[in-house]
Parts: sequence; C-alpha cells; structure tokens
Amino acid sequence: MTQASTEQRSTLRSSPVPTLQKDVVVVGAGPSGLTAATALRKAGLSVAVLEARDRVGGRTWTDTIDGAVLEIGGQWVSPDQTALIGLLDELGLGTFDRYRDGESVYISAAGERTRYTGDSFPTNETTTKEMDRLIEVMDDLAARIGAEEPWAHPLARELDTVSFEQWLIDQSDDAEARDNIGLFIAGGMLTKPAHAFSALQAVLMAASAGSFSNLVDEDFILDKRVIGGMQQVSIRLAESLGDDVFLNAPVRTVKWDENGVAVFADGDIEVQARRVILAVPPNLYTRISYDPPLPRRQHQMHQHQSLGLVIKVHAVYETPFWRADGLSGTGFGASEIVQEVYDNTNHEDDRGTLVGFVSDEKADAMFTLGAEERKAKILASLAHYLGPKANDAVVYYESDWGSEEWTRGAYAASFDLGGLHRYGADTRTPVGPIHFSCSDIAAEGYQHVDGAVRMGQRTAADIIALDTN
Ligand code: FDA
Repeated sequence: MTQASTEQRSTLRSSPVPTLQKDVVVVGAGPSGLTAATALRKAGLSVAVLEARDRVGGRTWTDTIDGAVLEIGGQWVSPDQTALIGLLDELGLGTFDRYRDGESVYISAAGERTRYTGDSFPTNETTTKEMDRLIEVMDDLAARIGAEEPWAHPLARELDTVSFEQWLIDQSDDAEARDNIGLFIAGGMLTKPAHAFSALQAVLMAASAGSFSNLVDEDFILDKRVIGGMQQVSIRLAESLGDDVFLNAPVRTVKWDENGVAVFADGDIEVQARRVILAVPPNLYTRISYDPPLPRRQHQMHQHQSLGLVIKVHAVYETPFWRADGLSGTGFGASEIVQEVYDNTNHEDDRGTLVGFVSDEKADAMFTLGAEERKAKILASLAHYLGPKANDAVVYYESDWGSEEWTRGAYAASFDLGGLHRYGADTRTPVGPIHFSCSDIAAEGYQHVDGAVRMGQRTAADIIALDTN
C-alpha cells in the first residue's frame, strides 16, 4: 500500500457499516466522483462515496517506487484546463513547469536522429508544409465541430464512418506527415491504432483541448505538474469528505426505480439514496448489475466504448544527464518503441527522471516479451533519443493500467468506428436516478483530469437543479 493510502485509511472509513440513507451515492473516488460529491455536499445534500480500491484517485496515483516518487497515472496540466486549475487553487496545491530547456530529438521512420529547436519537427520542407496544412485542416474542423456535441454536426456521420488512418490517407500522400499527425492523436492521446477510431473521434480529441494546434504543442498540453503529485487533488477532496468515503467497497449491484436507488457494495455496505452517480469509466459500467437492467440503448452503447492501452515508462537516473548535453529530454519518433519521451524530473529533485510512452500495438508487442527483455528494449529506445546513459536507469517502472481490475486500460475511453455519432448524444443522459460522470464523457478536458472535474461539477449541478425544481 502506498504512503498516501496509509494516510487515507486513518481518516476514511473502511469497515462494514449498516444501511445508510443519503441524498446521493457516488460510485468511484476518482477526481470526477470526488468533485461531484464535494459540490453536492456544499449544496447541502448528504453523500456517500463508494470506492473499489484501497485508495482514492483512480487513474491519478502518486506512489514511491524503489525510493523514487512517480506519477503512475495522470499528471500534466495545460493552461486551458481552467476547471482543474481552479480546483488546484482552492485546494492550495501548487504547480511547477515541465523542464524544457535545450534541444529536442526527432527520430525519422528510417531511424535517423536529429536534434532540433522550435515547434516543428525537423522534417524536409515538403513534409513540414504538409504537416502544417494538416494541422490547419484539423484546427478548422475542431473549431467548426466543437467538443460539446460533435455528433450533432452535419459532418458527423461522414467523419465518424472513416478511420482516422484512412482519413489521413485521403488528405495527404506524404506518409511521414501522416504518421506524425497520427501520432499526436493515436499514440499520444487515444492510445489506439489510427485504424481503430474515427476521424470524428480525432476531431473531438482536438476540440476538447481547444484546438489541434494545442494538442500538438507539448509546451501547451504538457505544461505543468502538481507539486506533491496529481493524486493530491483526490486525497484532499476525500479528506474533507471524511467518513463519507468508503474504501475497499466495490459496488456490485444497483437496484433502482424512478424514486431512488439502493446500492450494494462489498463489506456489507448498502446505501439508499435518491440518486446515484456512476463516476467510473464507461468500460466498467457493465461490472455492476442493475435491477431492473439498464435500457437497451445503454446496453448497446456501453459495448462500443473502450479504453486504449499505453505503457507509461518511468526511468530515474542519478542526474538528469541529458541536460548537460544540451537536451531538453523531449523526443518524438512515430516508428520508435517509445514514441514520446519527456523530462519528468520531480520538483526540487537532484535525480533526473524520464517518462516515455509505449502505445497500442507497440505495447501489445512489448507485453509478449519477458520483463527483462522488455525493459532492455524500452531503455534502448530511450537511449536512441538521449544517448547510451539512458540504459543505466537506477529505478525503472512501467505503469500497467491494462492490468488494473478497476481501470483496464489507459488513458481513457473512446468510441469504436462509427460509435460517436451513433451514441454520443446519450453518453451523459441520466437513466432515471442513475447519472454518469467521468473524464471519458467530458467535452472540454475530455480524457483529462480537467474533464473529470468538469463532469463532476456538471453532474452535481444537474442533480441540484433537478432536486430544487
Ligand atoms: P477514474 O478512473 O480516475 O476514477 C474512477 C474510480 O472509480 C476509480 O478510483 C475506480 O477504482 C473506481 N471504481 C471503478 N469501478 C468501481 C465500482 N464498481 N465500485 C466502486 N468504485 C469503482 N490526465 C491528465 O489530465 N493529464 C495527464 O498527464 C494524464 N496522463 C495519464 C496517464 C495515465 C497512465 C493514465 C492512466 C491517465 C492519464 N490521464 C491524464 C487521464 C486521467 O488520469 C483521467 O482522465 C482521470 O483520472 C479520470 O478521472 P475519473 O474520476 O473520471 O475516473
């Protein structure tokens, strides 16, 4: 158990309790559920938050591994994420900048390594122009379609029935430009191969960050980190909710009718309430039994939302050796095992930490290897970017969210081909007293902690409005 969760256990209840009567029961103590519970409590409603794990934070988790503090899950904050930034201020949590001084590294499909500065990859002039053009096309679509209701736009069906990979092929003959643009959405965000999701899903991803330009600008999208770790957001929210947060309480059954719910969790916990918020990713809705069953529409829709797969690799060194070599630690290579790498050194830490990402089919391939061979290949990829010293990590750790029972992938959920325009309008619609809240169904901040917070605030506001009308 982590140090953080040891602290949580001292203040949060984890023993069996009799039936509770509350206004709202929240399933899931990630940032979305805890934000919703906090807002409801502020509005004078009583809440209980039931969490399956022995810790709060969900896909945010700050842990100490072999003496190194690592952000196992979500960590970065960007300037457009105003809901999260506001919450950080409220909770008294500070931020610090990602280290980004010096040259970045680009590795071409042919394996050629180039150091560069500035916003554009050091590709040949034609490819650079083509990438700029594709970024403009995506920016235009993101601005026209938006993140709130992409399914409602006249272009929705057309864009949702073509894979992002095919759409890029239709747009450009330049394979290097296509691979690089694909990397930002496929490997970089949805963590699924570009043939597995639609162009509309890619547009939603871009629109949710304000623009595609924002998404491809690592200085924007990966701007800051939270001092003490992103999990602190959930830990602090849970601390102020105190005894109303129950750990080790996976919810198994929700009985419901138009008047309310009875929610049953392990540990003999039963909570009766007027409403329930499912603050879990959509791929986990079906882990719960509903009595009566959810309607046909939800049964169908939930089968089309799935999480991607990415290995977040942490490598810690005695010093941030790349800085002495004039390198920022940032590197991109669509054909590399590690497609993106960044300096992830902790606030005021003498040691240097790199974080790299191995996404979708590359992650599948890595997981066919034994742990030592996988580590050697991944470190060799880091060394390709930053030099042979990258092989000598003193701490090495792979975040493997695909193996986590209460998540099952990373970073978040997206629809399969055609699903977004077909079902999107219903993702946030309550079913009787059952409400849905998580980053996976957010508009702004989609897939990010900011989106989780926005959805928590929005769902709480919806419930408060319903209950006061
Ligand atoms: P979340 O999944 O966090 O919480 C849901 C909670 O429900 C979990 O605690 C789970 O245990 C619980 N639960 C599930 N089923 C249950 C049941 N039946 N009963 C009770 N409890 C149940 N974001 C970002 O902004 N910046 C970043 O840099 C990154 N990077 C990143 C890296 C990695 C590796 C991951 C995995 C994720 C990110 N993210 C991110 C995404 C971000 O972490 C994510 O969007 C939010 O944590 C989602 O918050 P939610 O509260 O919506 O779900």
